[in-house]
Amino acid sequence: SGNMLWGGRFTGGLDPLMVQYNESIYFDKVLYKQDILGSIAFARANAKSGIISQHEFAEIERGLLEVQKEWEAGKFVIVPGVDEDIHTANERRLGEIIGKDVAGKLHTGRSRNEQVATDMRMWLRDELRTIEGHLRDFLEVIAARAEKEMDVVMPGYTHLQRAQPIRWSHWMLSYGFAFASDLERLREVIKRVNRSALGCGALAGNPFGIDRDMMAEELGFEGLLWNSMGAVADRDFVTEVLQWGAMLMQHISRWAEDLIIYSTAEFGFVRLADAYSTGSSLMPQKKNPDSLELLRGKSGRAFGHMAGFMMTQKGLPSTYNKDLQESVEPMLDHVKTVSDSIQIANGVLATLAIQPKRMQASLDPFMLATDLADYLVRKGVPFRETHHISGRCVALSEQTGTPMNELTYEQLKGVDARFGEDIKEVFDYEKSVEMRAARGGTSKSSVTEQIKVLRGML
Ligand code: ARG
Repeated sequence: SGNMLWGGRFTGGLDPLMVQYNESIYFDKVLYKQDILGSIAFARANAKSGIISQHEFAEIERGLLEVQKEWEAGKFVIVPGVDEDIHTANERRLGEIIGKDVAGKLHTGRSRNEQVATDMRMWLRDELRTIEGHLRDFLEVIAARAEKEMDVVMPGYTHLQRAQPIRWSHWMLSYGFAFASDLERLREVIKRVNRSALGCGALAGNPFGIDRDMMAEELGFEGLLWNSMGAVADRDFVTEVLQWGAMLMQHISRWAEDLIIYSTAEFGFVRLADAYSTGSSLMPQKKNPDSLELLRGKSGRAFGHMAGFMMTQKGLPSTYNKDLQESVEPMLDHVKTVSDSIQIANGVLATLAIQPKRMQASLDPFMLATDLADYLVRKGVPFRETHHISGRCVALSEQTGTPMNELTYEQLKGVDARFGEDIKEVFDYEKSVEMRAARGGTSKSSVTEQIKVLRGML
């Protein structure tokens, strides 16, 4: 027996479990279209250099388009144990349609090593462009909400302890800029994904003078991979996307965690739409933020794929080794996870109801202790000293059980004689956020500028 594609030197068949262990058709069939387009480009270039005739090319093209139609109609029948991977499967079917004499010429000078790298790069490039669109949509929602809900003031936290008042828009934009950096990085990554391996052979290049530039152009690549050995060994384009997506998912996970906390009854800052929540099978009152928890949870699998695939590659000798087939499944899963996650995050944010009164109610006068210190700074007192004075006001408030903004002028004056009558004006959250008017701060002008800069990054 032996395999159609490489069986010439073999006399015995494969162990049945080895057949399954080796085959990738059940997942790499998603690459059917890229594989067919790549084959057409390859045959066209071989016809140009004269190693196959124009007539043979025309037959190959006709047959391959037929195969593509079968895939698209869901009529392609995979032959178990024969169709090892998508490349094998398409070629087997081509032979049945146009006859083996001509179909057998398609692979002239070609290796599956260059073929799989080419198919994966084309597929990934297209998927990443779709993801780029999802990410842009998400950022547009962030910018639009930030603009619309500018006047909502809420507590800002460090160590999850109340720190200083901020604008709700400022919180959204804090993540917005992380996602905008992800967008910049993505555009950079796409350039390196979108390079052609076609014409590199198994490892040593093409012996029939194939026009690599012509094929690259036909397939929409932005450039070539310049070393044939490197080209067939290179899965950095996958690794880089896994790394890129892992960081994006890390951002999404932190964002989700904030919103999970903000949606608890204890905080009550936001309410998730029904469309992104689920109930409990036991407790009728429950509304759980499953969308956010899945966003947080799925970041784990993104990191896992990244670490796992880097581990797969670390000890590999030069050029193609079958280990590299292990790049396909993480790539497919990762692209789905990242793509879905961005869209879910967008949906959550677009439908989220905020509770400005609850945010307002969670502001407490201690969050203005820094402003109290800053007041004295403006009177010329060194900040280290003002910090201490404000701290004594906090202590006085705690000891007397009087909120800091209700301490009398006399009480404050007792702490430090430099407090003037106008000290009362410090206890204003809106004023506090407006004071931070330097670029990147919480004032309306700063936040408005941030929105403009963010939009400029899209
Ligand atoms: N299915 C294989 C992969 O994904 C295609 C390349 C096979 N090449 C080989 N020399 N066995 O890596």
